[in-house]
Amino acid sequence: MQRLLVTGGAGFIGSNFVHYAMSSTDNYVTVLDKMTYAGNLASLTQLPADRFQFVKGDICDQPLVDELVAAHDVVVHYAAESHNDNSLHDPRPFLDTNIIGTYTLIEAARKHGKRFHHISTDEVYGDLELDDPERFTENTPYNPSSPYSSTKAGSDLLVRAWVRSFGLQATISNCSNNYGPYQHVEKFIPRQITNVIDGIRPKLYGKGENVRDWIHANDHSSAVLAIIAKGRIGETYLIGADGEKNNKDVVELILKHMGQAPDAYDHVVDRPGHDLRYAIDSTKLRDELGWEPQFSNFDAGIEDTIAWYRDNEDWWRPQKAATEAKYQEQGQ
Ligand code: NAD
Ligand code: DAU
Repeated sequence: MQRLLVTGGAGFIGSNFVHYAMSSTDNYVTVLDKMTYAGNLASLTQLPADRFQFVKGDICDQPLVDELVAAHDVVVHYAAESHNDNSLHDPRPFLDTNIIGTYTLIEAARKHGKRFHHISTDEVYGDLELDDPERFTENTPYNPSSPYSSTKAGSDLLVRAWVRSFGLQATISNCSNNYGPYQHVEKFIPRQITNVIDGIRPKLYGKGENVRDWIHANDHSSAVLAIIAKGRIGETYLIGADGEKNNKDVVELILKHMGQAPDAYDHVVDRPGHDLRYAIDSTKLRDELGWEPQFSNFDAGIEDTIAWYRDNEDWWRPQKAATEAKYQEQGQ
């Protein structure tokens, strides 16, 4: 039994991880979450009460972080400002949470000699051409494009420096685009599903040729558990499930499963600096730790995700109108 401190556990991937980790291990979990617009306590229901606690707080709050890190065995660090579009309009919270928040956590983990796992993104590597035969590996140079991805890159480098300079017992994972339940309606897939439910046409940025490498959130969680259990200290592991799809194909798939015409979407103004393609080579994770994704059928995964948003309107409805109003202001 381990005591896990999960930062950002009321967000999309963090909450999926909490459910996954609590049902597949006997670990004790504390979630530390500031409850920004992206946190939702309704994502953390039906958990075993004797092994779970929630603490509302900021990862930049040094005394609180110090006390919580001291009381746990492993810190699993998901908390972040996570949305590229928001980072283009108001970068400051990204610097505070992604850089200073990570710094505050690793200082506490160093002081108390605790195991630290840092959750990061494939976006730190920049983007690839559509026809590039190469995919991102652990050796790809960092080349982030947006305020969001540059702060994530900065946080990764802080963790690497703390390993080398101070012997921090840390691992890092960089994962591709996640989909599944509990994802905020600002993000691409839930935005389009909930748009169709509301009778609004899906919105494709630019031509819709951009490629993302989709992975189910549960596969991300199983990889993180494998890295915490068996990963080598100081190492980075890329997490991906060979799920490359362009945005147009994803929208058409959603429309098909929701009984709409394949062309019932609009092209809207593109995201500035929009990364063209992400693609992960997860050979190291698979060969070294024996990890394999379980959700390899994207078509079925999208059907399940559509069903989840249809069945859980109470969960997303409170955020929908404000999110769409913000997009409308930006012509998106
Ligand atoms: P999210 O925006 O859904 O959730 C982020 C959570 O962090 C929210 O609950 C929010 O309240 C909390 N938070 C924000 N600032 C905080 C602070 N200062 N102190 C404490 N809590 C704070 O994000 P997500 O999509 O679940 O992403 C989680 C992590 O995974 C991030 O580190 C992100 O970079 C990484 N990641 C995401 C993806 C993806 O596809 N979404 C892919 C790879 C990596
Ligand atoms: O690659 C991992 C990253 O994936 C994570 O680090 C980020 O936290 C996460 O938000 C995600 O970033 P993206 O920018 O790729 O995700 P987003 O859902 O915002 O957009 C996915 C693609 O869809 C992207 O090419 C932009 C496009 N898009 C997005 C929205 C919201 C549209 O075409 N229309 C939309 O309405």
